[in-house]
Amino acid sequence: MKTRSPPSTSREGVEVDDFDPLEIDGRWQQMDVKSSGESNSRLSRRSALLLAAALAMVTASLFVGHGSLGSDVDDERVAPIRGTAYLSRDEFKDVRTARAGESVLLTGGLGFIGSHVADLLLHRGFEVTIMDDESNGHNHNEFCQEMVPNNITVVDDFPSFPNTGDDTTQFTHVVHLAAAISVAESMANPVKYENINYGGSEKVINWISEYNKHAGSAGATKVRKLVAASSAAIYGDQPKLLPLQESAPYGGISPYADTKYRMEGLMKSFVEGQNNDGVAEPVSAVALRFFNVFGPRQDPHNPYSGGSIRRRTANCCSFPPTYSHFATQTSGVISLFLEAALTGKDITILGDGAMTRDFVFVKVRQCPVHPACSASSLTIRKDVARAIVLALLQDVKGDASFDVYNVCTGKSITINTLAGQVKQSMDSNSKITHLDPREGDIRESSCNPKGASDGILFKSAVSQEVGLEKTAAWFREDQGRRSRT
Ligand SMILES: NC(=O)c1ccc[n+]([C@@H]2O[C@H](COP(=O)([O-])OP(=O)(O)OC[C@H]3O[C@@H](n4cnc5c(N)ncnc54)[C@H](O)[C@@H]3O)[C@@H](O)[C@H]2O)c1
Repeated sequence: MKTRSPPSTSREGVEVDDFDPLEIDGRWQQMDVKSSGESNSRLSRRSALLLAAALAMVTASLFVGHGSLGSDVDDERVAPIRGTAYLSRDEFKDVRTARAGESVLLTGGLGFIGSHVADLLLHRGFEVTIMDDESNGHNHNEFCQEMVPNNITVVDDFPSFPNTGDDTTQFTHVVHLAAAISVAESMANPVKYENINYGGSEKVINWISEYNKHAGSAGATKVRKLVAASSAAIYGDQPKLLPLQESAPYGGISPYADTKYRMEGLMKSFVEGQNNDGVAEPVSAVALRFFNVFGPRQDPHNPYSGGSIRRRTANCCSFPPTYSHFATQTSGVISLFLEAALTGKDITILGDGAMTRDFVFVKVRQCPVHPACSASSLTIRKDVARAIVLALLQDVKGDASFDVYNVCTGKSITINTLAGQVKQSMDSNSKITHLDPREGDIRESSCNPKGASDGILFKSAVSQEVGLEKTAAWFREDQGRRSRT
């Protein structure tokens, strides 16, 4: 296993994005990033900035009365902790803190969703090892280190098994998000999707199986749970079955959908195999079928997430980027539209815009650092990241289980409505234009969220409108950061 530095974090000032005063005491002091010296010095500088920010927060909080609580602001917030910090109510309610020795291997942890999952896990005290080769481009998640000033290891290969290498990390949970994510690309290059999505998932499962055998003989901790990212793409176009339930048959129309569905099959066989073989402490597995995930750090410059065309340089992206902002069903449609609205370019919809999608928010933790940051600005809102962690921490007794859940809000909107909301949120003069529909795009998508609500107690807590507001604010700040570099 090669351990390498976390991605470059050369942009100063990004700390404001996800600053969390809770990090100031306790684990904050023990920060030890397993990375290059350069990263450590960068983090030291960041430590100083965050500490200064925390002092600003404390100062600000002295002038903030508690009367603002529960008025016009977030229903999620509860009383201040240690005088300055707020946690959302549902943090207490459903995402528990880590127990001794709990450690997560997170594939795809530098990606859009993965970086939020890393953030949440670290916040709850888990040790996290990220395995990511950055193959989907240079996402906004280079800021990962700013949001999580804790112990974090980034590796580009599977960790070694207990007692077989230098690495002494022991794992209890695995989250598998790494994947090639473009439906359109999968049509043109199915072999890539077969190798990365199906073959990669097979490798993850084989690694867990081998890891647990070694852990058994070495007396090390075993992996107990695997959560992997599947997709609503596996349902395809089945208008008669809307809103879609997990029991709907496979209807995928792309190699991407096919590889995700067969990944679920691998997980199921793995679980059943362990039960049949009477494996002690078997691993349970959950596949989460994400609908259209959106939120901060989704990169419209990433052709895989945004479905746009742009000129790419080796490891970074120009700003403003040279591409058209259009998309219909791709996950990144909100990030594309926001960027178009922000830069005054046309918001281009493929088709008539009447197609519907269920947009589910990823997670945001916001706390502006400057003194104007009042208690009312401190919020933690999270949906998809919370669903993943809830599935991960769900206790299973006896035989191993395999479950599949939709991750969605249960409310769909049209792309036309979305485009209008985006314009408004950005106060933009961009024109909304239409091009021909893209072949293969489904017309209607809507989802029944009841399975996840019953099975892992996940209910979307962030409305699409509020999520869009948070994402728009993040895009504006992000543009500010980019223009300063
Ligand atoms: N974003 C959505 O709306 C959405 C919807 C449905 C399903 N999903 C699934 O959720 C997961 C995360 O998606 P995302 O939107 O965060 O995408 P993303 O591209 O931002 O993140 C994926 C990460 O995986 C990494 N990766 C890709 N191939 C790898 C490999 N072979 N080895 C190591 N790392 C590799 C990439 O570098 C990237 O950081 C994916 O499995 C995707 O298929 C996402």
